[in-house]
Amino acid sequence: MPHPFPPPAIQIGDLTVDPPILQAPMAGFTNAAFRQIVRQYGGAGLLATEMVNARGFVWLDEHEAEHPDRLWGVADEPRPLAVQIWDNDPDIMAKVGRRLVEEYRVSVVDINFGCPVKQVTEKAHSGSYLLRDPQRMHAIISQLVKACAPTPVTAKIRLGCSPETINCNEIARVVEEAGAAALTVHGRTAKDFFRGNADWDRISQIKQHLKSIPLIGNGDLDSAEKVVAAFKHYDVDGVMIARASLGRPWLFAQAAAALRGEPVPPDPDLEAQRDCMLHHYQLVVDRFGEAKGTVLMRKFACCYAQGKPGARYFRTYVANVSTAEEFYRVVQDYFPVSDGAAASLSRAGQGAPVVDQDRVEAAGKV
Ligand SMILES: Cc1cc2nc3c(=O)[nH]c(=O)nc-3n(C[C@H](O)[C@H](O)[C@H](O)COP(=O)(O)O)c2cc1C
Repeated sequence: MPHPFPPPAIQIGDLTVDPPILQAPMAGFTNAAFRQIVRQYGGAGLLATEMVNARGFVWLDEHEAEHPDRLWGVADEPRPLAVQIWDNDPDIMAKVGRRLVEEYRVSVVDINFGCPVKQVTEKAHSGSYLLRDPQRMHAIISQLVKACAPTPVTAKIRLGCSPETINCNEIARVVEEAGAAALTVHGRTAKDFFRGNADWDRISQIKQHLKSIPLIGNGDLDSAEKVVAAFKHYDVDGVMIARASLGRPWLFAQAAAALRGEPVPPDPDLEAQRDCMLHHYQLVVDRFGEAKGTVLMRKFACCYAQGKPGARYFRTYVANVSTAEEFYRVVQDYFPVSDGAAASLSRAGQGAPVVDQDRVEAAGKV
C-alpha cells in the first residue's frame, strides 16, 4: 500500500533521513565538489560518495599510500554522508567498513550490489554479479554489519542480473535478514544497463518482502512531479535520484518542496546556473589543480548545459578545454545564457571572448 502523503522521514538505523530523498552514488561524479553543491541547494536527506573499491583501499593502506581520491572530503564534510564500497570478500569489506566508521566517522556504509560494468562484474565478481549469489551477499552484509555497528549498513541492488533471472524479492529478504538497515533498488536489471524504463511496479512489490527496513526506489526520477508520483503510486519509503541531478543539483530542493506540498521553486536562471557551474569548477580545481581539474570538469559542464538552447556547441567546445583560461572563454562564449546577459557579456568583451582574470588566477592557485 502506498504511504500517507507527505511521506515521513525514514530511519536508517539510528539515522533519520529527512526528507526521504537520497542523492545517489555515481562513480566519477558524486565527489566532494558535487556533494557540496547539492548541500548548498538542500533537499537531499542523505548524500553518497562514488563507489569505493574496498580491495584498492586495503592495498593503498598496506603500501602506506594516500587513501583513495574517492574519499576526498569524506572525513571533514557535513553529515549525514554515506560511503559506498564494493568487493566480494566479506573480510575485506569488513576491514574497510571498520576504517570508514572509526577513522572517517561516516553516517552509513552502503554496499554496491548493482554495478553492471564488466570491470566490476566479470573481472572482479562484484557489484551486480553478486545478485546471483545471495549466500555470499548475506556473508558480506552480516560481516560488515558486525564490523560497523552501530553505524548502519545498507545495500543497493538492481532487480536481478537479467530480465530472465529477476530475484529482487529473494535478495530483499536476504539483505534484511543479514542485518542491513535499508535497501535501495534501481528498477532495472544489470543486463539492462540503462535501457528501457525503470520498473517501479517491481520495486514496489519488494516492500511485501521486507519486515521493517525502509525501501528506497531509484530510477528515472527527473522532476519534482515524478518524485511526488513515486511516493503516491508506489510502495516505497524513500527515493533516490542520480542522473537528473548532475546538471540540476537543485532538483532535490525542488522535490523536497513538492513533497511538503509547497510550490516547486523554479530552476535558477541561466546566469545563476552558470555561476553554480563556475563555483563547481573552482572546487574541483582547488582539489585537483588546473590541468586535472579542467579535464575532470568537462563532463560536469556538459551536464549543466544539457537541455539548454545551444548546448551542442557548448559541449563541442568544452570537451576540448585543458586550461582555466580556455574553460572560462568557452563558458563566456557558449554557455547558454539569457539574451540580456549574452548582450552584456559581449559588450564587455567588445566582441572578443571575455576572460575573468581573477577567476583564472584563483583557479591557478592550487
Ligand atoms: C555515471 C554513473 C555512475 C554511477 N555510479 C554508481 C555507483 O558508483 N554506485 C552505484 O550504486 N550506482 C551507480 N550508478 C547508478 C545510479 O546510482 C542509479 O542507480 C542509476 O543511475 C539510476 O538512477 P537515475 O535514473 O536517477 O539515474 C551510476 C550511474 C551513472 C549514470
